[in-house]
Amino acid sequence: MALAKNTVFLFCYILCITLTNFGLNFRPVFAQTPAFACDVSSNPVLKNFSFCDVSLDVKTRVDDLVKRLTLQEKIGFVVNGAKGVSSLGIPDYEWWSEALHGVSYIGPGTKFTSLVPGATSFPQVLLTGATFNESLFELIGKVVSTEARAMHNVGLAGLTFWSPNINIFRDPRWGRGQETPGEDPVLSSKYGAAYVRGLQQRDDGDKDRLKVAACCKHYTAYDVDSWKGNLRYSFNAVVTQQDLDDTFQPPFKSCVLDGNVASVMCSYNQVNGKPTCGDPDLLAGVIRGQWKLNGYIVSDCDSLKEMFYSQNYTKTPEETAALAIKSGLDLNCGSFLTDHTQAAIDRGLLNETDVNKAISNNFATLMRLGFFDGDPSKQLYGNLGPKDVCTPANQELAREVAREGIVLLKNTEGSLPLSPTAIKSLAVIGPNANVTKTMIGNYEGTPCKYTTPLQGLTASVATVYQPGCADVSCATAQVEEAKKVAAAADAVVLIMGSDLSIEAEAKDRLDITLPGQQSILVTAVANVSKGPVILVIMSGGGMDVQFAKDDPKITSILWVGFPGEAGGAAIADVIFGYYNPSGRLPMTWYPQSYVDKVPMTNMNMRPDPATGYPGRTYRFYTGSTIFSFGDGLSYSQFNHHLVHAPNLVSVPLDAGHVCRSSKCNSIDAVEETCKNLAFDIDLRVKNMGKMAGSETVLLFSSPPRVHNAPQKHLVGFQKLHLTPMAEGRVRFNVDVCKHLSLVDEHGNRKVALGLHVLHVGSLKHSLNVRI
Ligand SMILES: *[C@@H]1O[C@H](CO)[C@@H](O)[C@H](O)[C@H]1NC(C)=O
Ligand SMILES: *[C@@H]1O[C@H](CO)[C@@H](O)[C@H](O)[C@H]1NC(C)=O
Ligand SMILES: *[C@@H]1O[C@H](CO)[C@@H](O)[C@H](O)[C@H]1NC(C)=O
Ligand SMILES: *[C@@H]1O[C@H](CO)[C@@H](O)[C@H](O)[C@H]1NC(C)=O
Ligand SMILES: *[C@@H]1O[C@H](CO)[C@@H](O)[C@H](O)[C@H]1NC(C)=O
Repeated sequence: MALAKNTVFLFCYILCITLTNFGLNFRPVFAQTPAFACDVSSNPVLKNFSFCDVSLDVKTRVDDLVKRLTLQEKIGFVVNGAKGVSSLGIPDYEWWSEALHGVSYIGPGTKFTSLVPGATSFPQVLLTGATFNESLFELIGKVVSTEARAMHNVGLAGLTFWSPNINIFRDPRWGRGQETPGEDPVLSSKYGAAYVRGLQQRDDGDKDRLKVAACCKHYTAYDVDSWKGNLRYSFNAVVTQQDLDDTFQPPFKSCVLDGNVASVMCSYNQVNGKPTCGDPDLLAGVIRGQWKLNGYIVSDCDSLKEMFYSQNYTKTPEETAALAIKSGLDLNCGSFLTDHTQAAIDRGLLNETDVNKAISNNFATLMRLGFFDGDPSKQLYGNLGPKDVCTPANQELAREVAREGIVLLKNTEGSLPLSPTAIKSLAVIGPNANVTKTMIGNYEGTPCKYTTPLQGLTASVATVYQPGCADVSCATAQVEEAKKVAAAADAVVLIMGSDLSIEAEAKDRLDITLPGQQSILVTAVANVSKGPVILVIMSGGGMDVQFAKDDPKITSILWVGFPGEAGGAAIADVIFGYYNPSGRLPMTWYPQSYVDKVPMTNMNMRPDPATGYPGRTYRFYTGSTIFSFGDGLSYSQFNHHLVHAPNLVSVPLDAGHVCRSSKCNSIDAVEETCKNLAFDIDLRVKNMGKMAGSETVLLFSSPPRVHNAPQKHLVGFQKLHLTPMAEGRVRFNVDVCKHLSLVDEHGNRKVALGLHVLHVGSLKHSLNVRI
């Protein structure tokens, strides 16, 4: 063994030296300087190329570049591992980097080395969604792009990041629900657009250029990974036009129109029998045609391979290649287009103009990123480097996001917050009490450092720790040991839940209860405890914890998501009342009976009384829940008072409009009728408690029950911070066509006529919309 290892080492040593001597860079992507084109200072010939001329507009430069390439060279630019053209001073470029909640090592474009050993790891996105703080979404994106640029400058990261994931968290079993901001299209839309702005927007306000390029994925109706033999690679999502237009598409539309995203990724799955990456209506028609994407459309890795080999959608691979490009795909993650594009052209299925269109979108994005502007150290952000990654301020923000997201779900009088002075001994129990990597979920990077829950709690009080289970699967709970420490302590914190072995990419859950014997452990520990018992659930998706909700010995329940690198500190901040919780659930917590009854593969959002299908999410599901969308307590009570809202909105219609002569349930939300149909709702919010805190105001509307409308839907949300007994104002500007409209059975936006009931908590206000 030892000999073999030495031989390999020696071999590599000689090889590396040899390659270096021949002037080849053994690891070109991860050198100390980034790859960039148009290095005119070291290669003056490049000055003759218009595509290197920064004074020209992007289109002129792209056209010039495309003109200079052979067909074979062009084909090198339709895949993520793009092949450079040395005669034109263009190096290889790796398109695939990720930054879902911090710069990630997933994707070959980014690496951590001793130069930059870690990056700030924010909470997994679902917990960020729970903050309902739009400015925070953007601020996270801004910090992540600064760290990304800093890593790029030393050759450790690309410029194109395939984040965020804005698919709707439709089913509680979905292993990737944790990556998304939740189940609501309005929240997902606002999150996506804000995070993208944070990533992309430059500090000099130049709207044509990008700090880094974001990518909204996975387009569309993608939310089944692997469930009872249904694999994402071949799954056909059967989706009604109505659900598509009012649930699955809105986050993508907002991402392109409000976020100005530079890229959209099409998914693996089919929608109504067509693979999304080979559907000209979904790509060229909607994204490029209707929404006018300024950027590139990329496939998942590798959707085209799956389209051919798993879905057998075309007869030959060349047909798949041609279909994808003609449908509007610009970049293939994978090598399918390297292998089959030339042959597709040779067979007359595709022509060079089609390829030009694709690479033009790709080049335009790189131009906007400054890739063709020469040495990045001479550009804006050129001074960023390792010192700008994992700064104290960035790490503090990771902690702030986690504590703003943590949701207090149950709190018996006298339980939380625990007094750090009165508690002399705290029992900390559970398989997630002393975890590190679990806290950052998937699409992670190497974090700057970790604060475990145990470390966070121990910083304030003396603790005794028992894992209680060997791991989260908890095949056999170690009940006796746990009971012993619990019985002797003033208070108990149980940190339970899941990790990536339970819910992850390519891993949907079957059950949504606490895994294995976790609930047995929790109940037994609670039974012997003499003080407060705090159940902390660290997980992606929701859990059926009805037993804990009902158990009077369990005095508090917290959901902490996967809280990121500073998760343990944030948990302690909330438990000891250094921070007053303000998070709200971004998804419904269903009972186990729901998943026993409902196939994950049924994409319908709306219930079907004929079959007993109960529908999905707070907008449509009327059955019992463990906890509901928007749930979340504070240590303070907040009172709401309506200051101003209209009772009546009249929609102006032409004299000849059909709804003037015959009765209509709704009218089309079209420009002529929608002009000036906006009003303000003013609310007064008062903090009645003794602690300062933030209140998340969720404004819902229940529309008239026409067109299979949702029972209620989110109109908007705002968060405000109030000191004890202080009063604040919130104003929602409601645009009737935008915020109160719904989508009919054919996908048309309509304004329902009749009573819309607006609500904030228990406050209700009826608004009559009529003609
Ligand atoms: C595609 O074809 C392969 C081999 O011919 C077959 O094994 C597979 O079941 C087919 N898949 C589908 C989705 O039809
Ligand atoms: C290439 O194909 C497109 C359709 O995809 C067609 O509109 C165009 O005229 C063709 N161009 C050439 C040069 O054949
Ligand atoms: C917590 O986990 C770390 C790393 O796995 C381990 O070194 C440490 O001893 C654990 N702490 C306790 C109190 O068991
Ligand atoms: C709780 O403890 C009592 C004894 O103190 C015991 O009789 C009972 O069975 C326990 N209940 C549970 C659910 O463990
Ligand atoms: C929202 O996040 C910002 C950071 O962008 C923070 O300063 C602010 O306090 C948060 N708002 C509330 C009401 O908690």
